[in-house]
Amino acid sequence: MGDEIPYPAGTRRYEPDDAPAVLAIALEAVATGELAGVSRHDLEYANARLAHDPAMCAVALEDGAIVGYVVPRHDELLVLRAARRRGHGTRLLQPARAIARRQGLPWFRAWVPTDPTSAGTAFAQAMGAAYHSSQWLMRLAADRPVPGPAFADALVVRWMEPGPDDERFVDVANESFADHPTPIRLSISELRHVHSRPEFDPRTILVVAEAAAPERLVGFSRVDRYDGDDGRPVGEVRILGVRPEARGRGIGRELLRWSITELRARGAGEVVLTVEGANDRALGLYEGTGFVSEVEWPHWVLPLD
Ligand SMILES: CC(C)(COP(=O)(O)OP(=O)(O)OC[C@H]1O[C@@H](n2cnc3c(N)ncnc32)[C@H](O)[C@@H]1OP(=O)(O)O)[C@@H](O)C(=O)NCCC(=O)NCCS
Repeated sequence: MGDEIPYPAGTRRYEPDDAPAVLAIALEAVATGELAGVSRHDLEYANARLAHDPAMCAVALEDGAIVGYVVPRHDELLVLRAARRRGHGTRLLQPARAIARRQGLPWFRAWVPTDPTSAGTAFAQAMGAAYHSSQWLMRLAADRPVPGPAFADALVVRWMEPGPDDERFVDVANESFADHPTPIRLSISELRHVHSRPEFDPRTILVVAEAAAPERLVGFSRVDRYDGDDGRPVGEVRILGVRPEARGRGIGRELLRWSITELRARGAGEVVLTVEGANDRALGLYEGTGFVSEVEWPHWVLPLD
């Protein structure tokens, strides 16, 4: 595919060999507190996705070294502290907008740290961006009792089967998130890339269908258990969705209960998840289950034109 992304001088397309330099910039932001609540595991996971589609990222260079990068799909625009206020952020916005457009995103959206020592808000305002909404990191205490799942008899509940389920899964994921405050679109090739990775375990994705129509998935949940930065096992509900037509019947609640029960059975202590603050339905479900909001990640948007 032709790559019509504009790269002003001092920027270029991401190359797979850039992965360590890009990860180092994100790790600096974690160390300085700008990226509060983000684990090394999350960053490595996001970093590995770039290999699948290098054109989803642009980097900024100074004396041949990478000092900044942007990944519109991940809401990330970051410049090394030592290289700030030299125009890298501004230059990266040009490819950022083009990449966002190519990916069908309605805007370029970026997370802006709340850390008062960070320049994020001043930069976003100077660029003409507007505050859009916040994502929250929520945490469930290890000792908070949560009932096990009890799916209705009319439902079939099973592990996702990579291959035969690929198209059905992309369909249920995209329809479940179509009316989300910040819609996402999953492609078959992205899904297959995630599934091709050595750490992928299909027994982390549960899918639900009506027993009367088992070919049409109506809901799903994906969990992840990993070692947190302090070495303790953490559980994460990575994504959970129910098709609009199947909502209001408790399927989301049972998927959440399944996710927590499964993660605890796998040794996770605390369970975390990320939720869009404007997503009242999800927020209510998570709060009602005992999750507590912990870190706010404000997101700002820039129009594409
Ligand atoms: C935000 C960030 C990407 C800016 O990168 P940068 O390369 O330093 O930005 P630029 O040099 O292009 O700055 C452009 C303009 O933003 C504004 N700005 C940037 N930093 C500022 C600061 N510390 N104080 C006030 N205004 C600032 C200025 O108007 C600046 O123009 P000027 O230098 O001509 O006055 C960088 O500070 C960063 O990585 N912050 C943490 C992550 C983040 O907030 N990302 C989301 C951004 S939407």
